[in-house]
Amino acid sequence: MNLSTRYLGLDLPHPLIPGASPLADHLDTVRELEDAGASAIVLRSLFEEQISREQTNAFLHTETHNESSAEALSYFPAPQTFVFGPEEYLTHLERVKAAVKIPVIASLNGSTLGGWLDYAPLIEGAGADALELNLYRLAFDPKLSGQNLEREAVDVVREVRRTVRIPLAVKLSPFYSSLAHFALELDSAGASGLVLFNRFYQPDIDPEALELNRGLSLSDQRELPLRLRWLGALSGQLRASLAVSGGVHDSRDAIKAVMAGAHAVQVVSALLRRGPGHLSVMLQGMKDWMKEFEWESLESMRGNMNLIRCPDPAAYERANYVQMLQGWRTR
Ligand SMILES: Cc1cc2nc3c(=O)[nH]c(=O)nc-3n(C[C@H](O)[C@H](O)[C@H](O)COP(=O)(O)O)c2cc1C
Repeated sequence: MNLSTRYLGLDLPHPLIPGASPLADHLDTVRELEDAGASAIVLRSLFEEQISREQTNAFLHTETHNESSAEALSYFPAPQTFVFGPEEYLTHLERVKAAVKIPVIASLNGSTLGGWLDYAPLIEGAGADALELNLYRLAFDPKLSGQNLEREAVDVVREVRRTVRIPLAVKLSPFYSSLAHFALELDSAGASGLVLFNRFYQPDIDPEALELNRGLSLSDQRELPLRLRWLGALSGQLRASLAVSGGVHDSRDAIKAVMAGAHAVQVVSALLRRGPGHLSVMLQGMKDWMKEFEWESLESMRGNMNLIRCPDPAAYERANYVQMLQGWRTR
């Protein structure tokens, strides 16, 4: 049985990858994940604001980083909040690379064109096999159009593509008005892969205390269908390979993601909850499942459930939507 896959141009023995998180913070855990069979590993992100803070004050007053950015930076956690400072991040990356044989994917997290992107070639120089660019941005400004926001994001990808040779993954949120079009633009700008999706840590409101509750909760499997839908919609439409991130907790979830079109399956919450050994359980579970249902290779399974087989996926989805709503009867 063949579980091999090609993600970001990297030939991997199977698709299971610990996603960007504290899982790669300690070398012993990284080795445990490799022993459990991880086919690659993604480091936590280095953040734009973190790097910008370390760069010159003058930088904050350039055209693109005006006073509102400086003000925004003042909300940002102090340097000691971060597990790794920018230089430490590079050293940690070198150490992880030296500790394991599997590909190591570093992560940069930000959204604007700026000096922080200088870290892309530094990350390449420190030995990363690929770079994941997390374009987390909240579009709260009513004056910022979707078109401009997407153009800025594409410019960031183009700029990073210009400065590094390693494969470049782009991690996205699901909140774009035309995600399929944006995905195609990122593809043309040089993204080697897309990671679907970022997870938002929405604060809740405590109405009695008049406070925001900001807690980080781990995911559950209910988050997977949104990813499956978009994997299915994008599969076969792009040169870039696709990774799922969010809501994959067991081998069956991973199988579903591959059937929808994923080349790689990133897992975080399940590994944080159950420990690195859970990865080997998932891997064995995939093999057992494929044997039981007589799938010889992941390749033959991939995209089997994507929407592209249907001549008009949007009309098909809308028909299903209408049917679901009309099908719910109270008596
Ligand atoms: C504690 C924690 C830290 C994370 N740190 C990062 C990060 O630095 N960069 C990033 O792109 N995603 C980060 N994530 C998001 C994960 O990579 C992943 O996208 C998300 O948890 C959804 O996957 P899951 O359902 O398997 O947990 C983090 C998640 C958790 C739980």
